[in-house]
Amino acid sequence: MAQIIDGKAVSAAVKEEVAKETSRLKDEKGLKVGLAVVIVGNNPASRVYVNNKKKACEAVGFQSFEYAMDEDTTQEQLLDLVNVLNRDARVNGILVQLPLPAHIDEKAVINAISPEKDVDAFHPVNVGKIMIGEYAFLPCTPAGVMRLIASTGVDITGKQCVVIGRSNIVGKPMAMLLLQQNGTVTICHSKTKNLKEVCLGADILVVAIGRAKFVTGDMIKEGAVVIDVGMDRDEEGKLCGDVDFESAEKKAGYITPVPGGVGPMTIAMLMKNTLTAAKQQAGLE
Ligand code: GUN
Repeated sequence: MAQIIDGKAVSAAVKEEVAKETSRLKDEKGLKVGLAVVIVGNNPASRVYVNNKKKACEAVGFQSFEYAMDEDTTQEQLLDLVNVLNRDARVNGILVQLPLPAHIDEKAVINAISPEKDVDAFHPVNVGKIMIGEYAFLPCTPAGVMRLIASTGVDITGKQCVVIGRSNIVGKPMAMLLLQQNGTVTICHSKTKNLKEVCLGADILVVAIGRAKFVTGDMIKEGAVVIDVGMDRDEEGKLCGDVDFESAEKKAGYITPVPGGVGPMTIAMLMKNTLTAAKQQAGLE
């Protein structure tokens, strides 16, 4: 039976570290840390995410600035706001909640965010830095996954690492981070032919394919570390991951639950990135 990786506990530890450092910076340097969160339109899931981000800011001692814009906001208006935030010294990090309404070009908006304030690490400059291993910010979800793997004490060096999913936000950067930690990395996706076989070779399996209970116990190597990035709904509408937890926990050595695994890590790593941004902008890092 697998050991459950407790994402809530690990994320609480990350937020605690951030809160301590934030308080120290305030006391010793008079430095305040601020995150701007921009939401456009009325997507209910985005509203929940943004509220959670604001709450996390409060918990670690950051200022948060919310900009809620109407659904019919033009791209130009949004770009104008981003430019204002790029110049606002109170704002160390800028997060534009995605998805944006269809009439706005997400790439144009991401490209407009100053790379120094791009705490999502979505800007091409930051994506490129990840490729060459010289990054300031890591994208929040892959960074959270790395922290969860570290919490197991399993050394990635020399291990067979399999990532299922090739998105720009999770799959691709995930593979890069595992590679930097000396893993032997395979990226699988919806067109991979011998998926089960590849998965069975994985010492570390990260699943981010967006299909409910896609990975089952018979695809998992005995004792593997299994990280489930999915946020799906099962046949009964219940929240579940990309991994069939019930069968997978019988094979895995360590496994993340959904909810309570990767989910809480993303916001914790966002807080960490925002703190890093503030320190860099103050010339402290
Ligand atoms: N929408 C869903 N996840 C994310 C995220 O990590 N960052 C942003 N900006 N939008 C999101």
